[in-house]
Amino acid sequence: MTTLITNIQQLIGAREETTLLRGAALAHLPSIKNAFILIEDGIIADYGAMYELELKVPQLPKNIIDAQGQFVLPCWCDSHTHLVFAASREEEFIDKLKGLSYADIAAKGGGILNSAKKLQAVSEDELFLSARKRLEEVSKLGTGAIEIKSGYGLSVHGELKMLRVIKKLKEKSNLSIKATFLGAHTFPLEYKENHQGYIDLIINEMLPVIAEEKLADYIDVFCETGFFSPQEMEIICKAGMSYGLKPKLHVNQLNSIGGIEAAVKLHALSVDHLETMTDNDIKLLSGGTIAGDSPPKGESPAMVGTLLPTAAFFLRMSYQPARKLVDSNCAIALASDYNPGSSPSGNMNFVVALSCIQMKMLPEEAINAATINGAYAMELQNEVGSITIGKKANLIFTKPIPSLAYLSYAFGNNLIDKVMIKGEFI
Ligand code: NIG
Ligand code: FE
Repeated sequence: MTTLITNIQQLIGAREETTLLRGAALAHLPSIKNAFILIEDGIIADYGAMYELELKVPQLPKNIIDAQGQFVLPCWCDSHTHLVFAASREEEFIDKLKGLSYADIAAKGGGILNSAKKLQAVSEDELFLSARKRLEEVSKLGTGAIEIKSGYGLSVHGELKMLRVIKKLKEKSNLSIKATFLGAHTFPLEYKENHQGYIDLIINEMLPVIAEEKLADYIDVFCETGFFSPQEMEIICKAGMSYGLKPKLHVNQLNSIGGIEAAVKLHALSVDHLETMTDNDIKLLSGGTIAGDSPPKGESPAMVGTLLPTAAFFLRMSYQPARKLVDSNCAIALASDYNPGSSPSGNMNFVVALSCIQMKMLPEEAINAATINGAYAMELQNEVGSITIGKKANLIFTKPIPSLAYLSYAFGNNLIDKVMIKGEFI
């Protein structure tokens, strides 16, 4: 089927070619005023200014949509979520309001362990249905590509259950989905004093089945004081990498304990969170190398730094130093971290607005970080993340708005009129 969209007030993120954006380039968001876009079988076939329409599309298709007054953007690419979970945790939220810290709650058996307990109690089908509902909700908010992690199973059975749910979401959804194995999210209580025992379980019992059933694209570890050390992360990642799973890692959320340095050595695809960054961490993320280390042949050494500002917002922590990271030439992406403990929202519109309001990103920078750079952080840059011929027609149609900056400025308002995934309105 062919669809032509005409009279678009501004077509945002139109690029002939894409690269991972860093430094000053992050603020460059090419757009076309009074534009059209042509979609064939769910794929962007052409685009341009309305005055070029006759030349570029001599034969108009039957299906024409007038987008007068609307901005059209590529859908959000949310490269870090924990969207599969059994139940919400607002009881901990109330505890927090009463003064308990994230660490206090974890020590009480709350936090990730609480989610693991709840996950044990639901069936794979129930888990799938609740996750599919969340996925539908975020797609209506403009998310067209998403990464989803396991990590609330923490047992062979639980982790496989989560990953099978993600696999089913991939099969049933029109969204582009990547799966990450996060068995190393925390140590289950029975392994609290036996770290090696749990690491052995991950390596010997979980990874072989995950590889056999092709259940994951990436491997993740929560590298943090009280969770996994950089050394433990290295061991787990190397085992994952032997099955072809690239690391995408939780580092530097609460403390800087050497996670970035370990991630550079592992040639991780991305390092995520980054609330707590030393100058040396920033230098390493911006492309610094480690003596004696060289990237694998044919691989780009670029590592994306994924900022999760809604987690900082919800936990009342200092925000990620976005300005310093961009100005130091780091390649950054923005993601929602959608999860029941630290970011119970997968609304990327709020992530983008918050990044401007609290981290002083320019609207163009935030949109690039939440689209094309997010696509790079999932290795989906050839499919999504920009208005480029040959990519999926995953498009956000805004309500009539005065300018692009209005999207971040008028935060919390629903400014999306409709969303198209693979050429079809949802
Ligand atoms: O990315 N920090 C580690 N994991 C999640 C939170 C998990 C939870 O609290 O359930 C995060 O913020
Ligand atoms: Fe996370």
